[in-house]
Amino acid sequence: MNTSIDWAALQLQAKAASEQAYAPYSHFPVGVAILASSGRIYTGCNVENASYGGTTCAERNAIAAAVVAGERQFDALVVYTPQDKLTPPCGICRQVIAEFFTPDSPVASCNHLGALQSWTLAELLPDAFTPTYLAASTKVKS
Ligand code: THU
Repeated sequence: MNTSIDWAALQLQAKAASEQAYAPYSHFPVGVAILASSGRIYTGCNVENASYGGTTCAERNAIAAAVVAGERQFDALVVYTPQDKLTPPCGICRQVIAEFFTPDSPVASCNHLGALQSWTLAELLPDAFTPTYLAASTKVKS
């Protein structure tokens, strides 16, 4: 695990974000903290919707908050759920994480028991489809 990253601070902020979760349907609050390469930390929580498909995950809300603040590069992501079983990011969020994080970026999950498990992004989403494929393509006329 990357020792230059303040994991305790990220865990605390992810937990605080989970306390703001709007999860009246699943009762599954999630908080995320991400460390931008600028050194700043951004957070997000899940925001559910009566039309269930309108729900957005904590990971994507944290990334959106950072992007609107001008960030484009990130060094670490931590998910917090008050569940005994540590929660990894869902598939859609893995794809969105891959847009801004490098394959070797640490993505961690923690919980109310203080447990922490970390993966690299490449372990969670091997051979990700990234912007480099678009840049390398020969555009087909429509
Ligand atoms: N959820 C997240 O916020 N992040 C994930 O990676 C997994 C799922 C949310 C979506 C929904 O509000 C609730 O958890 C149950 O799926």
